[in-house]
Amino acid sequence: GLVEHDFNITWVLHNPDGMQARPVIGINDYWPPPIIRATVGDRVVVHIHNQLGNQSTSLHFHGLFMENNTHMDGAVQVSQCAIPPGSDMTYNFTVNQPGTYWYHSHSSGQYPDGLRAPLIIHDPETPFVYDEELVMSLSDWYHDQMPNLMTGFIAKSNPTGAEPVPQSVLLNDTTSIDIPVENSRYENHTYLVRVVNVGAFAGQYLWFEGHNMTVVEVDGVYTQPQTASMLYLTAGQRCSFLLTGRNDSAADVNNYPFVTSMDITMFDTVPPDLKYNATGWLVYDVRRPLPQPALLDSDAFDVGGPLLLDDAASLTPHDAMPLLSEPDVSVEFNVNMQTRRDGANYAFFNNITYRHPVVPTLYTVLSANTSNDDGNDKGGGPEDARIYGTYTQTTVIPRRGQIVQLVVNNLDVGRHPFHLHGHNFQVVYRSTANAGTFDPAANASLLPAATATPIRRDSLLIYPNGFAVLRFRADNPGVWLFHCHIEWHLSTGLVATFVEAPVELQQQYTPSSGISSLPADHLAACVAG
Ligand code: C2O
Repeated sequence: GLVEHDFNITWVLHNPDGMQARPVIGINDYWPPPIIRATVGDRVVVHIHNQLGNQSTSLHFHGLFMENNTHMDGAVQVSQCAIPPGSDMTYNFTVNQPGTYWYHSHSSGQYPDGLRAPLIIHDPETPFVYDEELVMSLSDWYHDQMPNLMTGFIAKSNPTGAEPVPQSVLLNDTTSIDIPVENSRYENHTYLVRVVNVGAFAGQYLWFEGHNMTVVEVDGVYTQPQTASMLYLTAGQRCSFLLTGRNDSAADVNNYPFVTSMDITMFDTVPPDLKYNATGWLVYDVRRPLPQPALLDSDAFDVGGPLLLDDAASLTPHDAMPLLSEPDVSVEFNVNMQTRRDGANYAFFNNITYRHPVVPTLYTVLSANTSNDDGNDKGGGPEDARIYGTYTQTTVIPRRGQIVQLVVNNLDVGRHPFHLHGHNFQVVYRSTANAGTFDPAANASLLPAATATPIRRDSLLIYPNGFAVLRFRADNPGVWLFHCHIEWHLSTGLVATFVEAPVELQQQYTPSSGISSLPADHLAACVAG
């Protein structure tokens, strides 16, 4: 089928936390933006009309692979130019990945101002059974607008690089929600709860009193069912779980609170008035009280052990896809945060801080003269970066079908949630905090020992002074970013570019016409901007 939306991107005044009204970026004069729903096999067409007046924009469909369609990925100065005020652009793609995703602006730190919402791809043949679906978004929330906050963040007057601390936390874009579940008292209802952390910065702990969660999907990958009493989702991550209503006897009927709580260890300072929790209720009986949660904030973080399902630990994909074979391409990204010579704070992969190229990388790659490309480099040495015009960035140029191993060493004291466009990756191994850097010789035994069927996801938290080893197959020609999903870090350079299978990529866009085979509205955005 066809799922078609007309999105006028507009400023709207809104006060989601009841503390302060502020301009937010909405759609069709409304905020929050609508959940996009589609079914596997559908074509999704979203017509964007940028009516912000003062800002450019774009949409990225986080977690969708955009196969043979890299120019629909929405990353500004990577796969398109930003859509200038007054201009239009249409995103048009088919969906073949069931699961829980989201869409958000991918234009200069913009989405925390409101342009983000869940994207759900229904599956007629889920490997589990449920009666009803609930979608839940979790988000940190700022009272000030991103351009202002960003100026303060990178300023010399912020020498420690402290990220702005959000003022509150939102649950479905408000501060508290009631979910009526009275039917489940009689019918033993099972809910499929799809959760998305659409936040800019903070990880979120989520737990329900009196109910377990049985995780069945993370980042669009079905998992073997696994029970947890608490979940942790970093910015960008999704999870769906089964939650079965209680059928307590009439005398015992109660309403149950659930809590989402920001990971305040990520903040340099915790202001005393910070609202870091939001509470909702499963309402079995509207006539009964809504009890306050027994556990709040950091008490709950001590639950620990098997009760806390961390974002990667011990999950197995439902399809039991085996560990990819030894890599053809092995790259190491060392993460650190530094003050530049001018005193401003920036983030680095391998001592390179990413800056947007003037021309989108995809267009540069499509225009490259490939006759000098011998196609042999493993991951693309400096020669290939010169051929494809990406030498100023941290770039990897895998060849079609190669297995890529990505070692990310987090040399920073902060937690970083990394996201890969165009793929999900196998989490071959992830260290605890303070494990140091990955040492191929000393740590070799970790990898096959880790698991024969590693979980795949598109977003993963890497602990302070820890590392992760990730693998994927370069089977999706395109230009794909790998970046920290903390918007402060994305905007200050914690970004690498994969130019994947460039020769085949050029062929997709008809060799003779190159970039001019792109849709007219994409080319027009570059001219107008
Ligand atoms: Cu959800 Cu490049 O991001």
